[in-house]
Amino acid sequence: MALRFWKRKLPDREEKAYKIEVKVEQGVFDKKVLILLDSLFRKKILKSIDYCVSTGKEADVFRGTDFNDNFVAIKIFRTYTGQFHRFDDYWDESMAIKMKKKNSVIDLWCSKEFKVLQLLSDLEIAPQPIYRLQNINVMSFLGENGIPYSLIKDIKEDLDQKTYDAILSSIKKMYVRGIVHSDLSEYNIMYDDNSKKVYFIDFAQAVSNHHRNAEKFLRRDVENINKFFKSINNIEITESDQILKQILELKH
Ligand SMILES: Nc1ncnc2c1ncn2[C@@H]1O[C@H](COP(=O)(O)OP(=O)(O)O)[C@@H](O)[C@H]1O
Ligand SMILES: [Mg+2]
Repeated sequence: MALRFWKRKLPDREEKAYKIEVKVEQGVFDKKVLILLDSLFRKKILKSIDYCVSTGKEADVFRGTDFNDNFVAIKIFRTYTGQFHRFDDYWDESMAIKMKKKNSVIDLWCSKEFKVLQLLSDLEIAPQPIYRLQNINVMSFLGENGIPYSLIKDIKEDLDQKTYDAILSSIKKMYVRGIVHSDLSEYNIMYDDNSKKVYFIDFAQAVSNHHRNAEKFLRRDVENINKFFKSINNIEITESDQILKQILELKH
Protein backbone atom coordinates (compact mmCIF):
# COMPACT_ATOMS: atom_id res chain seq x y z
CA MET A 1 0.00 0.00 0.00
CA ALA A 2 2.74 2.39 0.98
CA LEU A 3 4.58 1.57 -2.19
CA ARG A 4 1.58 2.20 -4.42
CA PHE A 5 0.89 5.47 -2.70
CA TRP A 6 4.51 6.42 -3.20
CA LYS A 7 4.35 5.58 -6.86
CA ARG A 8 1.20 7.53 -7.37
CA LYS A 9 2.55 10.48 -5.49
CA LEU A 10 5.66 10.74 -7.58
CA PRO A 11 4.47 11.44 -11.10
CA ASP A 12 7.26 12.25 -13.47
CA ARG A 13 5.65 15.50 -14.60
CA GLU A 14 8.25 17.77 -13.08
CA GLU A 15 11.09 15.67 -14.28
CA LYS A 16 9.71 15.68 -17.78
CA ALA A 17 9.43 19.41 -17.71
CA TYR A 18 13.18 19.60 -17.40
CA LYS A 19 13.55 17.49 -20.50
CA ILE A 20 11.82 19.99 -22.72
CA GLU A 21 13.99 20.25 -25.74
CA VAL A 22 14.42 23.95 -25.94
CA LYS A 23 17.65 25.80 -26.27
CA VAL A 24 17.22 28.75 -24.03
CA GLU A 25 19.62 30.42 -21.72
CA GLN A 26 19.72 28.73 -18.36
CA GLY A 27 17.70 30.29 -15.65
CA VAL A 28 15.16 31.99 -17.90
CA PHE A 29 12.37 29.66 -16.88
CA ASP A 30 11.54 28.94 -13.31
CA LYS A 31 10.15 25.59 -12.26
CA LYS A 32 6.51 26.64 -12.54
CA VAL A 33 7.00 27.97 -16.06
CA LEU A 34 8.79 24.80 -17.13
CA ILE A 35 5.85 22.74 -15.96
CA LEU A 36 3.38 24.99 -17.77
CA LEU A 37 5.43 24.89 -20.96
CA ASP A 38 5.56 21.14 -20.74
CA SER A 39 1.79 21.16 -20.54
CA LEU A 40 1.57 23.39 -23.64
CA PHE A 41 3.77 20.96 -25.53
CA ARG A 42 1.59 18.04 -24.45
CA LYS A 43 -1.58 19.85 -25.44
CA LYS A 44 0.04 20.47 -28.81
CA ILE A 45 -0.35 24.21 -28.52
CA LEU A 46 3.40 24.54 -29.00
CA LYS A 47 5.92 22.50 -30.93
CA SER A 48 8.99 24.52 -30.03
CA ILE A 49 10.29 27.65 -28.42
CA ASP A 50 12.67 29.29 -30.82
CA TYR A 51 14.25 32.39 -29.32
CA CYS A 52 13.74 35.23 -26.93
CA VAL A 53 12.25 38.26 -28.66
CA SER A 54 12.22 40.57 -25.67
CA THR A 55 13.03 40.67 -22.01
CA GLY A 56 10.99 43.26 -20.18
CA LYS A 57 10.32 44.35 -16.63
CA GLU A 58 7.09 42.43 -16.34
CA ALA A 59 7.31 39.78 -19.01
CA ASP A 60 9.51 37.91 -21.45
CA VAL A 61 8.36 37.29 -25.00
CA PHE A 62 9.55 34.35 -27.07
CA ARG A 63 8.94 33.29 -30.61
CA GLY A 64 7.62 29.76 -30.83
CA THR A 65 6.31 27.42 -33.49
CA ASP A 66 3.00 25.57 -33.42
CA PHE A 67 2.13 22.18 -34.89
CA ASN A 68 1.08 23.77 -38.19
CA ASP A 69 4.52 25.33 -38.39
CA ASN A 70 3.16 28.80 -37.81
CA PHE A 71 5.12 31.15 -35.64
CA VAL A 72 3.51 32.21 -32.38
CA ALA A 73 4.42 34.72 -29.70
CA ILE A 74 4.69 33.36 -26.17
CA LYS A 75 4.47 35.99 -23.47
CA ILE A 76 5.50 34.79 -20.04
CA PHE A 77 4.58 37.16 -17.25
CA ARG A 78 7.14 37.36 -14.51
CA THR A 79 6.01 35.76 -11.32
CA TYR A 80 8.09 38.13 -9.30
CA THR A 81 7.75 41.74 -10.21
CA GLY A 82 8.19 44.96 -8.36
CA GLN A 83 5.16 46.43 -10.06
CA PHE A 84 2.40 45.07 -7.83
CA HIS A 85 1.63 48.44 -6.32
CA ARG A 86 0.20 49.61 -9.64
CA PHE A 87 -2.23 46.73 -9.69
CA ASP A 88 -4.94 48.56 -7.76
CA ASP A 89 -5.22 51.35 -10.31
CA TYR A 90 -5.78 48.90 -13.13
CA TRP A 91 -7.90 46.33 -11.33
CA ASP A 92 -11.07 45.82 -13.35
CA GLU A 93 -13.71 43.54 -11.89
CA SER A 94 -15.41 43.16 -15.27
CA MET A 95 -12.28 41.64 -16.77
CA ALA A 96 -11.23 39.44 -13.88
CA ILE A 97 -11.12 35.69 -13.92
CA LYS A 98 -12.31 33.66 -10.99
CA MET A 99 -9.22 33.14 -8.90
CA LYS A 100 -8.43 29.58 -8.00
CA LYS A 101 -6.06 28.48 -5.31
CA LYS A 102 -3.27 27.84 -7.79
CA ASN A 103 -3.54 31.33 -9.34
CA SER A 104 -1.25 34.17 -8.43
CA VAL A 105 -1.91 37.87 -8.91
CA ILE A 106 0.23 37.84 -12.00
CA ASP A 107 -2.17 35.33 -13.58
CA LEU A 108 -4.79 38.07 -13.41
CA TRP A 109 -2.66 40.41 -15.49
CA CYS A 110 -2.05 37.66 -17.98
CA SER A 111 -5.71 36.69 -18.19
CA LYS A 112 -6.72 40.32 -18.59
CA GLU A 113 -4.44 40.65 -21.58
CA PHE A 114 -5.84 37.45 -23.05
CA LYS A 115 -9.42 38.57 -22.51
CA VAL A 116 -8.74 41.88 -24.25
CA LEU A 117 -7.17 40.06 -27.21
CA GLN A 118 -10.34 37.96 -27.42
CA LEU A 119 -12.55 41.04 -27.34
CA LEU A 120 -10.53 42.66 -30.13
CA SER A 121 -9.96 39.55 -32.20
CA ASP A 122 -12.08 40.53 -35.21
CA LEU A 123 -10.73 44.07 -35.48
CA GLU A 124 -7.26 43.18 -36.78
CA ILE A 125 -5.59 45.73 -34.57
CA ALA A 126 -3.86 43.33 -32.16
CA PRO A 127 -2.40 39.80 -32.12
CA GLN A 128 -4.87 36.94 -32.21
CA PRO A 129 -5.28 35.13 -28.88
CA ILE A 130 -4.39 31.43 -29.08
CA TYR A 131 -4.14 30.03 -25.57
CA ARG A 132 -3.61 31.11 -22.00
CA LEU A 133 -2.25 29.02 -19.20
CA GLN A 134 -1.82 30.78 -15.86
CA ASN A 135 0.91 33.37 -16.51
CA ILE A 136 1.59 32.40 -20.13
CA ASN A 137 -0.16 33.90 -23.15
CA VAL A 138 0.24 32.35 -26.56
CA MET A 139 -0.81 34.63 -29.41
CA SER A 140 -0.23 35.10 -33.10
CA PHE A 141 3.23 36.28 -34.04
CA LEU A 142 3.37 39.76 -35.52
CA GLY A 143 6.24 39.72 -37.93
CA GLU A 144 7.66 38.79 -41.28
CA ASN A 145 9.74 35.70 -41.98
CA GLY A 146 9.93 35.01 -38.29
CA ILE A 147 11.30 38.45 -37.42
CA PRO A 148 9.00 40.66 -35.34
CA TYR A 149 7.71 43.85 -36.88
CA SER A 150 9.37 47.02 -35.63
CA LEU A 151 8.00 49.10 -32.84
CA ILE A 152 7.03 52.52 -34.18
CA LYS A 153 9.54 54.14 -31.82
CA ASP A 154 12.35 52.66 -33.94
CA ILE A 155 11.14 53.60 -37.41
CA LYS A 156 10.09 57.23 -37.22
CA GLU A 157 11.27 57.85 -40.79
CA ASP A 158 8.76 55.31 -42.17
CA LEU A 159 5.76 56.84 -40.44
CA ASP A 160 3.37 59.33 -41.99
CA GLN A 161 -0.05 60.86 -41.60
CA LYS A 162 -1.71 57.54 -42.42
CA THR A 163 0.04 55.85 -39.50
CA TYR A 164 -1.11 58.55 -37.12
CA ASP A 165 -4.67 58.39 -38.42
CA ALA A 166 -4.66 54.58 -38.24
CA ILE A 167 -3.58 54.70 -34.59
CA LEU A 168 -6.36 57.14 -33.67
CA SER A 169 -8.82 54.98 -35.55
CA SER A 170 -7.67 51.89 -33.62
CA ILE A 171 -8.01 53.72 -30.30
CA LYS A 172 -11.59 54.57 -31.28
CA LYS A 173 -12.37 51.02 -32.41
CA MET A 174 -11.09 49.71 -29.09
CA TYR A 175 -13.15 52.20 -27.20
CA VAL A 176 -16.30 51.21 -29.05
CA ARG A 177 -15.47 47.64 -27.99
CA GLY A 178 -15.41 48.95 -24.45
CA ILE A 179 -11.67 49.01 -23.87
CA VAL A 180 -9.02 51.59 -23.06
CA HIS A 181 -5.45 50.38 -23.61
CA SER A 182 -4.00 52.38 -20.69
CA ASP A 183 -0.35 51.81 -21.62
CA LEU A 184 -0.35 53.05 -25.17
CA SER A 185 2.80 54.63 -26.53
CA GLU A 186 5.34 54.19 -29.32
CA TYR A 187 6.71 51.27 -27.26
CA ASN A 188 3.53 49.21 -27.60
CA ILE A 189 2.66 49.67 -31.25
CA MET A 190 4.12 47.46 -33.98
CA TYR A 191 4.21 48.39 -37.62
CA ASP A 192 3.99 46.17 -40.68
CA ASP A 193 6.07 47.92 -43.29
CA ASN A 194 4.42 46.08 -46.20
CA SER A 195 0.75 46.52 -45.43
CA LYS A 196 1.41 49.78 -43.50
CA LYS A 197 -0.82 48.41 -40.75
CA VAL A 198 -0.35 49.16 -37.08
CA TYR A 199 -0.91 46.68 -34.27
CA PHE A 200 -1.34 47.40 -30.61
CA ILE A 201 0.30 45.04 -28.11
CA ASP A 202 0.74 44.74 -24.34
CA PHE A 203 -2.77 44.87 -22.92
CA ALA A 204 -2.24 43.74 -19.34
CA GLN A 205 -3.06 47.21 -18.03
CA ALA A 206 -6.15 47.72 -20.19
CA VAL A 207 -9.43 48.61 -18.50
CA SER A 208 -13.03 48.70 -19.59
CA ASN A 209 -14.35 52.10 -20.66
CA HIS A 210 -16.57 52.09 -17.57
CA HIS A 211 -13.59 51.81 -15.25
CA ARG A 212 -13.14 54.63 -12.74
CA ASN A 213 -9.80 55.59 -14.31
CA ALA A 214 -10.81 54.98 -17.94
CA GLU A 215 -10.94 58.63 -18.95
CA LYS A 216 -7.67 59.46 -17.25
CA PHE A 217 -5.92 56.53 -18.97
CA LEU A 218 -7.50 57.36 -22.32
CA ARG A 219 -6.21 60.93 -22.08
CA ARG A 220 -2.74 59.69 -21.26
CA ASP A 221 -2.81 57.25 -24.22
CA VAL A 222 -3.85 60.01 -26.60
CA GLU A 223 -1.31 62.47 -25.21
CA ASN A 224 1.49 59.89 -25.54
CA ILE A 225 0.62 59.33 -29.18
CA ASN A 226 0.38 63.04 -29.91
CA LYS A 227 3.70 63.73 -28.21
CA PHE A 228 5.42 61.06 -30.25
CA PHE A 229 3.95 62.15 -33.58
CA LYS A 230 4.67 65.80 -32.87
CA SER A 231 8.33 64.86 -33.07
CA ILE A 232 7.85 63.69 -36.66
CA ASN A 233 7.71 66.19 -39.52
CA ASN A 234 4.68 66.80 -41.71
CA ILE A 235 2.06 65.24 -39.54
CA GLU A 236 -1.09 67.12 -38.81
CA ILE A 237 -1.84 66.53 -35.16
CA THR A 238 -5.35 66.84 -33.77
CA GLU A 239 -5.41 68.41 -30.30
CA SER A 240 -5.73 65.82 -27.53
CA ASP A 241 -8.85 67.49 -26.12
CA GLN A 242 -10.58 67.27 -29.43
CA ILE A 243 -9.68 63.61 -29.92
CA LEU A 244 -10.86 62.86 -26.42
CA LYS A 245 -14.16 64.56 -27.05
CA GLN A 246 -14.67 62.58 -30.25
CA ILE A 247 -13.88 59.31 -28.50
CA LEU A 248 -15.99 59.93 -25.41
CA GLU A 249 -18.98 60.63 -27.63
CA LEU A 250 -18.69 57.05 -28.87
CA LYS A 251 -19.50 55.66 -25.45
CA HIS A 252 -22.77 53.89 -25.13
N1 LIG B 1 2.48 39.09 -30.83
C1 LIG B 1 3.75 39.46 -30.94
N2 LIG B 1 4.46 39.14 -32.06
C2 LIG B 1 5.76 39.51 -32.18
N3 LIG B 1 6.44 40.18 -31.25
C3 LIG B 1 5.79 40.54 -30.12
C4 LIG B 1 4.42 40.19 -29.91
N4 LIG B 1 4.05 40.67 -28.70
C5 LIG B 1 5.13 41.28 -28.19
N5 LIG B 1 6.18 41.21 -29.03
C6 LIG B 1 7.54 41.78 -28.83
O1 LIG B 1 7.87 41.67 -27.46
C7 LIG B 1 8.09 42.96 -26.89
C8 LIG B 1 7.52 43.01 -25.49
O2 LIG B 1 6.14 42.77 -25.52
P1 LIG B 1 5.11 43.56 -24.61
O3 LIG B 1 3.79 42.88 -24.77
O4 LIG B 1 5.17 45.00 -24.94
O5 LIG B 1 5.64 43.26 -23.14
P2 LIG B 1 6.39 44.17 -22.06
O6 LIG B 1 6.50 45.58 -22.58
O7 LIG B 1 5.52 44.06 -20.86
O8 LIG B 1 7.70 43.52 -21.88
C9 LIG B 1 7.46 43.93 -27.85
O9 LIG B 1 8.10 45.17 -27.83
C10 LIG B 1 7.60 43.25 -29.19
O10 LIG B 1 8.86 43.52 -29.73
MG1 LIG C 1 5.42 46.74 -23.86
